[in-house]
Amino acid sequence: MSSVKYDVKDLSLAAAGRQRIEWAYREMPVLRLIRERFAAEKPLNGVRISACLHITTETANLGLTLREGGADLVACASNPLSTQDDVAAAMVEYGIPTCAIKGEDEKTYYNHIIAALEHKPQLTVDDGADLVTTLHTRRSDLINGVMGGTEETTTGVVRLRSMAGEGKLRYPLIAVNDAETKYLFDNRYGTGQSTLDGITRATNILLAGKKVVVCGYGWCGRGVALRARGMGAQVIVTEVKPVRALEAAMDGNRVMPIAEAARIGDIFLTVTGDINVIDVEDFKVMKDGAILANSGHFNVEINIPALEKMAVSKRTVRPFVDEYKMRDGRCLYLLGEGRLINLAAAEGHPASVMDMSFANQALCLEYLVKNKGKLEAKVYAVPEEIDKQVARLKLRAMGIDIDTLTPEQEKYLSSWEHGT
Ligand code: NAI
Repeated sequence: MSSVKYDVKDLSLAAAGRQRIEWAYREMPVLRLIRERFAAEKPLNGVRISACLHITTETANLGLTLREGGADLVACASNPLSTQDDVAAAMVEYGIPTCAIKGEDEKTYYNHIIAALEHKPQLTVDDGADLVTTLHTRRSDLINGVMGGTEETTTGVVRLRSMAGEGKLRYPLIAVNDAETKYLFDNRYGTGQSTLDGITRATNILLAGKKVVVCGYGWCGRGVALRARGMGAQVIVTEVKPVRALEAAMDGNRVMPIAEAARIGDIFLTVTGDINVIDVEDFKVMKDGAILANSGHFNVEINIPALEKMAVSKRTVRPFVDEYKMRDGRCLYLLGEGRLINLAAAEGHPASVMDMSFANQALCLEYLVKNKGKLEAKVYAVPEEIDKQVARLKLRAMGIDIDTLTPEQEKYLSSWEHGT
């Protein structure tokens, strides 16, 4: 058992957390199958794991699965505002030391990461690469004991590739985000649904007829745009990549620069992984009442420090809604302090989609243990067999059968001699 202490808001919330964790588990059939196999085979027996993830019901179910596989697990939050306090309490009760409190300040956030590293992990699980970078910078003395790790999100993978490019990465990491059974579903349908859920829970605003500006047409942006259109919004997309902009246009969205969109949008949503995507010049021309939210990993996509400076006053008008009054009397509304709105104001992705992401996580951790010592200090793709297995298991759980190539079709598809 770990010597890491826990730090949660209130242990008496555990019963409520446990109920919600069990509810989510009903929607995680792939993870359930993995948990059953892990219980029998114990592939992670005695392995110390430090997991820095959004502390949600789905994460608790991943944690219980890893523990069933024999892991000695501790957890901390991967964002100061994404923790579900009842889940954190339940995780402690389940025997997973957890350091995470919704709304913790930045100092506490990093202290929690440091506490999770005290566990001397042999495997790391990260979402955004804050744990891995802290390990490399502040606790590099522990790195020799680490056999590998996994990364959950696009921004984390970008950071890890940058570290590897500079020769600074010191152990193998698997980019779980880049599995097809992750980004095609979690980033697109998970972020699509839960981001609108976050915006509507925070504001209770009607989306039908609104001009929703989606900045970034990556996997998350596509999902948000698709679902916003489905709710009757007029979607405007801003992009920097020509192909993605073209795709956005042919998918039926209006595409224009942010400087133009800023003048007409009712709701702005950033999902780029980039910095200052909405900036001073945009705040200056926005309509009175414009709503700003972010679903990208960090709270840097909207230039909040500039907004703070431009505003003559600021007040919280509803939970997760801050009103910024401009000199000319206009009010702009920032949701969830510019942090991932789907986790700040709602519950994050639905369990059914996290089922696939976390199945990849569990199987990749097993893979890292099996391949201990054989991998280099670089960023690896999720093994194709794991990706396919997750898809097969999810289809089976959904009761969907598909066809199989006949020998004749297989031969045809791998040959060149045929023509008209
Ligand atoms: P992606 O790389 O597929 O898409 C990002 C898009 O933003 C790209 O098409 C890029 O060209 C565009 N972009 C970059 N700078 C821009 C700018 N200044 N203006 C307009 N567009 C710009 O990435 P993905 O997978 O869509 O992830 C986006 C962000 O969301 C990342 O930070 C990721 O970590 C995060 N994420 C958040 C989740 C959540 O639960 N809220 C879930 C999954 C990912």
